[in-house]
Amino acid sequence: MEGELKVDGSKNAVLPILAATIINNGESVIHNVPELRDVETLIGMLRAIGCKCFFENGTLIVRSNQEINVNVPEKPVREMRSSIILLGAVLARCGQVKICYPGGCEIGPRPIDMHLSGLRKMGARITEAHGYIYCECGKLSGTEINLDYPSVGATENIMLAATTAEGVTVIQNAAKEPEIWDLQTVLNKMGAKISGAGTSTVRIEGVRHFGSLEHEIMPDRIVAGTFMTAAAITGGSVLLKDVMTEHLRPVISKLTESGCTVSEYDGNRLFITSNKRLKAAEVVKTLPYPGFATDMQAQMMAVMTIAKGTSVFIETVFESRYKHVEELVKMGANIKVDGRTAIVRGVKKLTGAEVMAGDLRGGAALVLAGLTAEGTTIVDNVKLHVDRGYDKLEIKLARLGADIRRV
Ligand code: EPZ
Repeated sequence: MEGELKVDGSKNAVLPILAATIINNGESVIHNVPELRDVETLIGMLRAIGCKCFFENGTLIVRSNQEINVNVPEKPVREMRSSIILLGAVLARCGQVKICYPGGCEIGPRPIDMHLSGLRKMGARITEAHGYIYCECGKLSGTEINLDYPSVGATENIMLAATTAEGVTVIQNAAKEPEIWDLQTVLNKMGAKISGAGTSTVRIEGVRHFGSLEHEIMPDRIVAGTFMTAAAITGGSVLLKDVMTEHLRPVISKLTESGCTVSEYDGNRLFITSNKRLKAAEVVKTLPYPGFATDMQAQMMAVMTIAKGTSVFIETVFESRYKHVEELVKMGANIKVDGRTAIVRGVKKLTGAEVMAGDLRGGAALVLAGLTAEGTTIVDNVKLHVDRGYDKLEIKLARLGADIRRV
C-alpha cells in the first residue's frame, strides 16, 4: 500500500461532545464530524429528545433551545452502549432523566456502576427498575468523587452533570484520554469552568449560564492507528495527515519496535513505512491512556500474526475482547488465548477465508488480515460493526492500493 490519507474527526470525541450540546440551551456549530453510524445514532437521539440537528456543507449545527424530553429513546441506548453519555447531559440541563440500561456489548458487560455512584454522590436520586434508570436531582451538588477505575465514560458523564451543579466537583482517578481534553475544551467554550482534563484530577465548578459553541473535533487516534497497522501488515508506506502524533505514542513505539520506520512532521503528519518482514513485539499490554489503547489491540494482533517470533497480548481493560482470535486462526494464524492473555506465534503467511466481524475493532483487524492473506478473504458483518467506527474503510484502503471492495 502506498499513498496518503487525511484522518477524520474522532468518534470517541464527538459522541460526548454531541451530548454536551444539550447543556447550552442554544446553538452549537461542530466541524470535522466523522460520518459514522454511531454518530448518526446519537444525532437521532438528540432529535428525539427535542434538539434540532442539521448539516451545512459538512458542518453540524445543533440547536438545543427547545423543550428537552427527559425520556431518552430506548432502542438506540440498547444498541449503542455509549449513548449512556446522555445521562449526565440531560441531568445537567433538566434535573431529571429516564434512560434504559445500555446493552452490554460484544466486548463485555460494560456496567455503569461508577457512572451512577458518582451521580449519587452529587445528590442525584437514582432508582433502577424494569431495565430503566430514573434519575432526578433538582440541583446537583459539587463533591469529591474517587473513581475505582479511570473509566472514560464515567469521567465524561460526571463532567457533564457537574457543569451546572452547585459548587465544585473534583474527580480523582479520572480518565486521561485525549477525548476528555476535547470535551473539557468544548464545555469551557460554552461557559463551563473545568480544569485538569488529561490528568488524573478533573475539577468542575458549576455555572448557571452557557453560550453558543463552535468547535472542530480532534482527529481520531484509533482510525490513524488502524491505517498505521494497515501499512505495517502490507509492507507499504502511508502518509497520514491531520493526526495528533502525541496521541499515537504507544502505537508508534510498538510498530517501531517491530521494524517499521515512523517519521513525524509538525505534530500533525506522520509517515510510516514497513518494507520487510516485521519482528514480533514481545508484549502488547492494553492500559488506560497514555498506555497502549485497548481499541488498537485487535489491529496490532493482526500485524503480529505474520511477524517473526512470538508476541504476548494482555488485555487489561475489557474482559472479552478476543472475538477476532478464532477468525484470525481460520486464516492460518497461530494464537492461543488464556483469559486476558493471548500468545501469538508469527507465521509466514495467512490464507484468505470467510470470516465474521464480532465487534468494531476486531472487524477492522480482520480486514487488515485480509489485505495480506494469500487469496480472497470475505469479512461478514462489516455494516453492523466496522461501519460504526470507520467511514468508507474499503474505499480509503483501495485508494492506498489495496485490492478490496464491498460486496
Ligand atoms: C470508551 O468506552 C470508548 N468508547 C471505548 O472505545 C474504549 O475502548 C474505552 O473507553 C476505553 O478506552 C467511547 O468513548 C464511546 P470505560 P467506555 O468506561 O467509556 C469498566 C471503540 O472501539 N467499567 O473506560 O465504555 C468497563 O466494563 C470503543 O471505539 C465498569 O466496570 O470505557 C471496562 O471493562 C470500544 N464500571 C472498563 O471499565 C463503570 O461504571 C473500561 O471502561 C464503567 C466502566
